Amino acid sequence: MSPATQKALVLPAEKASFELVTDWPVTLPGPTEVLVKLVSAALNPADAFIKDNGGGLLIPAYPFILGVDGAGVIEEVGSEVNNVAKGERVMVRAGLDVKRSTFKEYAVFPAAEVLRFPANISFDEAATIPLALATAVTGIWAHGEGNHSAELTPPWDEGGTTKYAGKAAFILGGSTSVGQFVIQCARMQNFSPIIATSSIKHEDYLKSLGATHVIDRSLSCDEIKNTLSSLTAGTTIELVYDPWGRDRDSHRFGYSVLAPGGAFVHVNPFAADWLADLVTESEKKGENKRVALSWSSYNSPGNKELGQEIFDRVPGWLETGVIVPNRFEVLPNGLAGVDAGLERMSKGLVSGIKLTVHPAETL
Ligand SMILES: NC(=O)c1ccc[n+]([C@@H]2O[C@H](COP(=O)([O-])OP(=O)(O)OC[C@H]3O[C@@H](n4cnc5c(N)ncnc54)[C@H](OP(=O)(O)O)[C@@H]3O)[C@@H](O)[C@H]2O)c1
Repeated sequence: MSPATQKALVLPAEKASFELVTDWPVTLPGPTEVLVKLVSAALNPADAFIKDNGGGLLIPAYPFILGVDGAGVIEEVGSEVNNVAKGERVMVRAGLDVKRSTFKEYAVFPAAEVLRFPANISFDEAATIPLALATAVTGIWAHGEGNHSAELTPPWDEGGTTKYAGKAAFILGGSTSVGQFVIQCARMQNFSPIIATSSIKHEDYLKSLGATHVIDRSLSCDEIKNTLSSLTAGTTIELVYDPWGRDRDSHRFGYSVLAPGGAFVHVNPFAADWLADLVTESEKKGENKRVALSWSSYNSPGNKELGQEIFDRVPGWLETGVIVPNRFEVLPNGLAGVDAGLERMSKGLVSGIKLTVHPAETL
């Protein structure tokens, strides 16, 4: 039997300080829902952004609870649930919905939206996956009507592992959580070479994920362009992915090195304006460079089918190492550690890892 109340990290109002409470109600699952006892919750840039700047219309009402990623154990199932059972380990993606949010001890999800993970993956590893993987794949593999993706042939469809072989993929910011998954997706498709920019300290790690070359992201655009030219001699850059999403120059640079007919993917819905003049110029030349946008929800109409394909495959991919989770650092004191973790993120002091907390360890 789950308790009536729980510890939760509450945002009382827009841009207010967090309050740690012990009496937030535990919501019971409806007929098609499950209640998950969260073992690990991961911190994301969205949490840091909303904490610092407010969520505007994205936050339906205050008090609110952040936390969009997590992993835990199913504690209760609704009367009509038959795809998962009490006691199973699942990863969860919350979105901005207080019932689902993960900076608390318990959260409720539609049973169809929790994903079992294999025994070789820990709770912290599982918590690093849902949002970042969804962001990576919705930008490249969604094909449903209304999608904004690059519509690459996914690796499970005919040609998905052969048609990109010998073509280059370029990822600007490969050590971001999203970028790490993009590199692994490009490896699944046999892009070659797979070139990522990053702090050079992550070179070996990114190569272990599938990058064939890592370029120091502190170099100037001209220096990066020269290196890129020598690495891609004899081939074309068919995919450029900017998973960092906050740098106008980076977007413009990425678009400019993309081959005609290729796809530029970004994660920032407000960044299209950064490219407008380049796109017009390119269109006049008939280059047919596509611009795609990732959107990390499998519930948006264009991404629904992809969500099912991903859910069907992720457990097997994790079991066999086709994809690996992000590396992580567990913050001390459970939910009480979130604020300092988000501050580190805001200051750009989180590099190549995901921060996680264990709600049960809250002091
Ligand atoms: N569209 C969507 O649905 C969606 C969903 C989720 C996230 N996002 C957005 O995607 C972006 C990435 O999220 P994330 O969780 O992957 O980030 P993250 O892992 O928290 O980002 C930290 C990493 O960013 C790298 N970085 C810092 N400044 C950079 C720059 N100027 N260029 C390239 N890399 C830089 C750092 O790399 P080094 O250590 O190598 O310096 C660090 O490893 C965020 O802006 C987030 O808001 C969008």
